Amino acid sequence: MQEKRVGILGLGKKLGSKVLTNKDLEKIVDTSDEWIQTRTGIKERRILDKGESAATLASAAAKEALENAGVKAEEIDLVVVTTITPEQPLPATAAFVQREIHADKAGAFDLVVACPGFVYALTVLSPLISIGKYKYILVVSCDTLSTITDWEDRGTCVLFADGAGAAVLGEVPAPRGILQSAIHNDPYNIELLEIPGGGSRRPYSHEVIDNKEHFVKMRGNELFKVAVKSMTDVSLEVLEKAGWTIDDVDLLVPHQANIRITDAVATRLKVDKEKAVISITYMGNNSSATIPATLYDIQKEGRLKENDIVLCTTFGSGVAYGALLIQW
Ligand code: UT7
Repeated sequence: MQEKRVGILGLGKKLGSKVLTNKDLEKIVDTSDEWIQTRTGIKERRILDKGESAATLASAAAKEALENAGVKAEEIDLVVVTTITPEQPLPATAAFVQREIHADKAGAFDLVVACPGFVYALTVLSPLISIGKYKYILVVSCDTLSTITDWEDRGTCVLFADGAGAAVLGEVPAPRGILQSAIHNDPYNIELLEIPGGGSRRPYSHEVIDNKEHFVKMRGNELFKVAVKSMTDVSLEVLEKAGWTIDDVDLLVPHQANIRITDAVATRLKVDKEKAVISITYMGNNSSATIPATLYDIQKEGRLKENDIVLCTTFGSGVAYGALLIQW
């Protein structure tokens, strides 16, 4: 019998429909197209339009992933949405997606790990397929950061965007599939990126809202350094565990937080610049959606080909970080 691994059978993507350019942002905060492009790489990003929300983006991406995978919704065993911006506080956004796509026999829940959500989900869920517990798992990484952004804070509002990327996981013939993965969290840097208000410690109140504690607070400069180190270290860890070297990698697909973070990670890993995929220019930072949405785009462009070795690496609030090595 041919050896099997767990892999991605099909991808889907749906970004917010409203295009927000740097010029648009110049009208909202004290910033410039020149500053945003040089300091972040972003030219434009997409945010929610009227009638759109986490569940509408996530469901659209999910439907496309199922179609591309050739898997029916009723065959899905688990629907897992990674998000920090749910459709509503209760129930899980996964329940809304499940209802929309009619994945009627599935279990459904959300995973809250900010930007590394997709890598975390694939790491913890893929063994459930290898041990035979489940056949197909639908992972939808969906974040609508525009809804938790302080639109008067130029340090964050120029970065964030809304989007969803979905993947159907199932068995693929070896040597293709997930080769290795690792996830970690550095809790001593929680305060570098957080939403302090709106939880049990600081429940919603007029004071919380007036202090804008329900919006993302970020110490971007400090986080930048932590990001570069953690993404590099965890990439080297998965390569070593897999018995591969960086020269074996065809494509580096990092979380898209800042083009300078991607450049610094690529330099430290000694990856040729042309192997490092950049989508932040046209997509902005879609949190956990950036990696699946970027994989979707490069597969569509023909840049990502069967059997390519792909290294995904990510970090975010927590500070959570992780990496995934896949033979496509
Ligand atoms: O998904 C994970 C979450 N996000 C991240 O990981 C982001 C990581 N950090 C970063 O990408 C960068 O730190 C930023 C893009 C957020 C900021 O870039 P920086 O080069 O680290 O700038 P800085 O924070 O050191 O600020 C430099 C200057 C400051 O002005 P002064 O104090 O030197 O006068 C800021 O006030 O740039 C100013 N600044 C801006 N100026 C124009 C900050 N944001 C803006 C802006 N437009 N949007």
